[in-house]
Amino acid sequence: MTETTGKPILILGGTGKTGRRLAERLTARNVTVRIGSRAGKPSFDWLDRSTWDAALDGIGAVYISYYPDIAVPGAAETVEAFARLAVERGIKRLVLLSGRGETEAQRAEEMVKTSGADWTILRCAWFSQNFSEGFLIESILEGEVALPVGAVGEPFVDVDDIADVAETVLTEPGHVGQLYELTGPRLLSFAAAVAEIGKATGRDIRYRQISHAQFTETMAAHNLPPEFAWLLNELFTEVLDGRNETLTDGVQRALGRRPKDFSAYATETAASGVWSN
Ligand SMILES: NC(=O)c1ccc[n+]([C@@H]2O[C@H](COP(=O)([O-])OP(=O)(O)OC[C@H]3O[C@@H](n4cnc5c(N)ncnc54)[C@H](OP(=O)(O)O)[C@@H]3O)[C@@H](O)[C@H]2O)c1
Repeated sequence: MTETTGKPILILGGTGKTGRRLAERLTARNVTVRIGSRAGKPSFDWLDRSTWDAALDGIGAVYISYYPDIAVPGAAETVEAFARLAVERGIKRLVLLSGRGETEAQRAEEMVKTSGADWTILRCAWFSQNFSEGFLIESILEGEVALPVGAVGEPFVDVDDIADVAETVLTEPGHVGQLYELTGPRLLSFAAAVAEIGKATGRDIRYRQISHAQFTETMAAHNLPPEFAWLLNELFTEVLDGRNETLTDGVQRALGRRPKDFSAYATETAASGVWSN
């Protein structure tokens, strides 16, 4: 239950990287949650608006994690339509998971802000867990990560920190109208991040910078859909041009503690065995 309404919290993407962790945290403190995803009951599908009403029925607040990516053209309008429907149904407390330095994500933020909601925005850096639960895990297992990105520093953020912030803002007062920009405590190039994973696993994992065209070919060879390759190329071109090469105090401000460092993520994840083949 939310602090303000006593009703359940709907977690969109509730089986994904941040949503699953948020659901665990809220459940542990006896807050009732509803998983909003195609596998949820009732099912929620971003592509099928006829599913949205039932998912919102009886809900007090929503954590909005868009799929596939809030940087995809058109994402902002879809998120806006969802936010307006929620507000119309009397559900004003909305928390949006967003991305840093992405035109479409920042448009979606503006739309949620003007929807009439009591909003909080979590504007996040690249997730560390992309290397263990996302599209990079196979490359790590294969021993080579090849991406169209050079020495630019990214402040990878741990999704456990994002889930902690989401839990806090949904259950404690004082966070309405706040935008938290969430980064890790250190800038790392992709090569440096891969080296940290190599060190933590004791395996030889190389990093190689490739061109955008080579990257698209590699994605096709791994049977990944062309639109996914397009999206990643877009992110690598638009977002990793140096604009996000800064650290922020969002985790500290929301939680009163420092964010988790990438080396702690690498050590813990190596110990879990997901990078052992
Ligand atoms: N990854 C990053 O580094 C990063 C950084 C900043 C911001 N973000 C943002 O975070 C959000 C989530 O990204 P993620 O990579 O972490 O994904 P994720 O949460 O791991 O995505 C999987 C979730 O989406 C659900 N889903 C898949 N298709 C759906 C559909 N058609 N309708 C409704 N739900 C659907 C899945 O459940 P079902 O299969 O049951 O439907 C699952 O719960 C995106 O908006 C992204 O832009 C990501």
